[in-house]
Amino acid sequence: MPSPSREITLRFLAQPTDANFGGKVHGGSAMKWLDEAGYACACGWSGRYCVTAFVGNMNFQHPISVGHLIELNAKAIHTGKSSMHIAVNLSSGDPKSGLLSKAMYCIMIFVAVDDDGQSVEVPEWVPVSEADTQLEKYAITIKNFRDSNKSELESIMEHQSKIDAEVHSQAFLNRAFYIPAFDLPCFAMGFLASFFEL
Ligand SMILES: CC(C)(COP(=O)(O)OP(=O)(O)OC[C@H]1O[C@@H](n2cnc3c(N)ncnc32)[C@H](O)[C@@H]1OP(=O)(O)O)[C@@H](O)C(=O)NCCC(=O)NCCS
Repeated sequence: MPSPSREITLRFLAQPTDANFGGKVHGGSAMKWLDEAGYACACGWSGRYCVTAFVGNMNFQHPISVGHLIELNAKAIHTGKSSMHIAVNLSSGDPKSGLLSKAMYCIMIFVAVDDDGQSVEVPEWVPVSEADTQLEKYAITIKNFRDSNKSELESIMEHQSKIDAEVHSQAFLNRAFYIPAFDLPCFAMGFLASFFEL
């Protein structure tokens, strides 16, 4: 069996069907490409089917033109038990010049799963170069930061949901009182006015 591949590069042209209303490549199309490159990289490393668990640090640095060459580079920068942290870069440029510049980047986490969708172990990735060590350190730092803020974010979201629920129930009550208190008398007056031909 071939050894796991840590990195993958995809190249293709941005199609007219990828354009948004402004004539540039739709942000959603570019996000899909990043996800696909990350997925291919995670599958290549783990040799398993993988699912996207997290997307973060997504940056749009410059617009991408239709007809431009797209180059996606995805590489593993940290592995957990079943998770793979993948850095994905998207560069683009005029294929006539061959000059590509970085347009987007993000960090994604993929999890290898079995046929039942349960997470399964992946081979460990060990950094070799100094640059790789720095990348792994960065991946771990932002993971720890996210984990430490997760419960705070969840409680903020929960609080917001309660506020939304209260606002909706108040709006419902207002409407419930509004209909008999205002609509029905108006309707009755209109009916009487038309009856007496006023
Ligand atoms: C991703 C998924 C398989 C994880 O399931 P789980 O029961 O939480 O699995 P585990 O607890 O074994 O966690 C597996 C790993 O994923 C990581 N993980 C799970 N959810 C995560 C999230 N939202 N963000 C970052 N990492 C996550 C865990 O930290 C763990 O990492 P480790 O291997 O380094 O220890 C599950 O949440 C899932 O199927 N999610 C939906 C995925 C999906 O539909 N993606 C879009 C289409 S592909």
